[in-house]
Amino acid sequence: MRKAILELLKHNSGQYISGEDISHTLKVSRTAVWKHIQALKQAGYEIEAHPRLGYSLRQTTGRLLPDEIKAQLTSTVLGQEIHYFDEVDSTNNAAKKLAANGCPEGTIVVAESQVGGRGRLARGWFSPPGKGIWLSVVLRPPFSPMDAAKCTLMAAVGVTRAINSVTGIGCGIKWPNDILWQGRKVVGILTEMSAEMDAINFVVIGMGINVNVNQEDFPSEIASVATSLSVAAGCEISRIKLLTAMLSELEAVYMLAKNSGFALVLEEWKKNSITLGQQVDVYGIDRNFSGQAFDIDADGALLIKTFQGVERVLAGDVSI
Ligand code: BTN
Repeated sequence: MRKAILELLKHNSGQYISGEDISHTLKVSRTAVWKHIQALKQAGYEIEAHPRLGYSLRQTTGRLLPDEIKAQLTSTVLGQEIHYFDEVDSTNNAAKKLAANGCPEGTIVVAESQVGGRGRLARGWFSPPGKGIWLSVVLRPPFSPMDAAKCTLMAAVGVTRAINSVTGIGCGIKWPNDILWQGRKVVGILTEMSAEMDAINFVVIGMGINVNVNQEDFPSEIASVATSLSVAAGCEISRIKLLTAMLSELEAVYMLAKNSGFALVLEEWKKNSITLGQQVDVYGIDRNFSGQAFDIDADGALLIKTFQGVERVLAGDVSI
């Protein structure tokens, strides 16, 4: 019923529709209409109530509300269960709790803002309200725990595809999991896992996409290395469109990996890589060195040619 009332309000967007008309059209009591309107307001919709004219939906709030996401969802597994927060510490933390309590595969957690957004290597993640997609997806892949890192590669390929199809902006993937536009970061991915020795319980893929962040909004520490898709495109970008496209692309890449293995995903990752072929400085877990990044192997490890020979880097960071 709530959905039907929302549809009616949307249909009459910009105008008022009386409680009586709603109750008559949908064959529910005026009290029920009132209750549903309160619930919609609670969920974040801005609905004007006029004593004589009735109700009017203010032009869409642009929020990532579950009903709005569901209306445009084309994926069939990812996003079937949606947990939405106006503000949360970290969508990855919320998703890990849900996953530990048995939520279904494909559950997503999305927030307008994060106050404790986390990045890789114990860094923070700038997550201002309403300007980005701060999203975590729960997967329960039938992979070995050794293969969990490949989920990050899958996500990078899925997000790159979605950005390209929705905005036309060509981004590149910097190993292991940053998506850059003209050398500046627009997306970060943080994959976390719970596993036994031989099986994965769940993987949470957290994605932070700077969608409509203004360049001057970035804190000074990251202003020179970060940017947003709206800065790249020169116009605002629909977060809902991008989010639903991402879910659908990530689902397609995940199915491909499950059904046919990682080879094709790796191929696409390599095609979009801006790291391969470059002279890089490597900041590894236990040492730093330089060399030429020439390939990634089947595990997603970066292969570097150095004077001493070929080095294999599975975790860490590189600068180009
Ligand atoms: C990085 O580049 O270091 C990874 C950044 C990942 C940020 C996202 S935003 C949604 C999810 N929740 C978090 O706390 N982090 C990830």
